[in-house]
Amino acid sequence: MVSVVIIILNLLLSSSVILSDDYLENLSVNTGETATFICDLPEKYSNKQADFYGPTGRLLITKTDEDIASGDRTRFILEHTYAWTWSLILSDVSDDDAGEYTCRVSSSSVDQTLTIIKRFNLTVLTPPKIIDITIESNNNEILRENEQIILKCSARGIPQPKIIWHIPGKKFLLNKRNDRNIIAFDNKLLIKNLSRTTPSDYQCIADNGIPPRDTRTKRLLSSISPEMTIQSSIKSSRILLNCTIIARPLDSAKWKRNRFEINNIKRKQINDYTVELLLLLDFNTNIFGMYECEAENQLKVSKAFINIDDTILLNRTTTTSAMLPKYHRISSPSYAQIELLLNHGSICKCQFYFILLINIILINYSNGFYNKR
Ligand SMILES: *[C@@H]1O[C@H](CO)[C@@H](O)[C@H](O)[C@H]1NC(C)=O
Ligand SMILES: *[C@@H]1O[C@H](CO)[C@@H](O)[C@H](O)[C@H]1NC(C)=O
Ligand SMILES: *[C@@H]1O[C@H](CO)[C@@H](O)[C@H](O)[C@H]1NC(C)=O
Ligand SMILES: *[C@@H]1O[C@H](CO)[C@@H](O)[C@H](O)[C@H]1NC(C)=O
Ligand SMILES: *[C@@H]1O[C@H](CO)[C@@H](O)[C@H](O)[C@H]1NC(C)=O
Repeated sequence: MVSVVIIILNLLLSSSVILSDDYLENLSVNTGETATFICDLPEKYSNKQADFYGPTGRLLITKTDEDIASGDRTRFILEHTYAWTWSLILSDVSDDDAGEYTCRVSSSSVDQTLTIIKRFNLTVLTPPKIIDITIESNNNEILRENEQIILKCSARGIPQPKIIWHIPGKKFLLNKRNDRNIIAFDNKLLIKNLSRTTPSDYQCIADNGIPPRDTRTKRLLSSISPEMTIQSSIKSSRILLNCTIIARPLDSAKWKRNRFEINNIKRKQINDYTVELLLLLDFNTNIFGMYECEAENQLKVSKAFINIDDTILLNRTTTTSAMLPKYHRISSPSYAQIELLLNHGSICKCQFYFILLINIILINYSNGFYNKR
């Protein structure tokens, strides 16, 4: 709007413009390069001086150079190559230079009538630049599993860049692949069902034919509320308590005995959302008590319990190196010491039950239950 007003003002104030003999030339120049506007005057003006006007009607070159802003002066060179040929050379072109340029002659010095000889439409080609990759999701704060996510890659550049999606490490481009869960369209990527198994990194590639291409990668990690399983096994004179935790992120994970945290545990990272918390108990020390595995992140605090009491010692010589059986084998749960998981989080239902085995195993052993298999 402003430029239109300026042009109109200029036209009204300075001169009346006669549009004649003019034709349009399209010029495309890469950012940083040089644009050359060549204006051949018709024969009847061949002894005249050509003037060039820029996109806002600004006078770029005059006989006196007076109207060029000093900062710009060095970028513009007016050449009078032949009697009737004038050239404007504009170096180090930037976005701001794009627009219409005109070559004009004043037909009469008295009435200041300007005749437009030629118009130039300058397009400044700019390589793609990715502005941002944004996530459109229902709960913007936390990415949850089973949620639909849309990634949007915004890029600028002239011409407008095309967006291609890629998963780093994969050979194919997502735009060329028919994946039911991950669909690329326009400058977006739809992930229908985010889960722990969907890829975590997504690369946006912006390309408009002007090198270099721009790329950016976005990482999508769904949060997983802690889930855990406890396994116990007896090895010679020791019991191994193995708490396998699945969580993302995992803010804290610990074993406690009778509500006091145990320091001497081994932490084994299986993958980016699975950790094994291993606790070795030596029969030679006092190991009885309530053992509690606890994991926490912003979604939830989860706990699982296992009780170790003196029944474990009754028949430990016969159970050496035997893996304690899984609880679904236990035929009479009334013997079992069943510990229910305390579920502190209100979000999830009671997912995690843990049943205490030690007693039952010993009873089954003495009843010969195990010999039946
Ligand atoms: C210049 O570009 C315009 C719009 O893009 C087009 O209509 C016109 O035909 C082009 N002129 C020439 C001479 O290429
Ligand atoms: C100048 O060229 C651009 C891109 O080619 C086009 O969008 C625009 O309409 C043209 N302007 C004129 C005045 O021809
Ligand atoms: C999302 O995927 C998971 C496993 O990858 C599946 O269990 C779940 O049912 C799926 N959810 C939807 C809404 O499709
Ligand atoms: C811990 O338990 C998991 C299964 O819950 C098992 O895959 C893993 O091998 C166990 N780790 C050890 C050290 O026994
Ligand atoms: C120990 O287990 C064996 C069978 O493995 C059984 O014969 C024996 O009676 C058990 N001893 C005790 C003290 O329970």
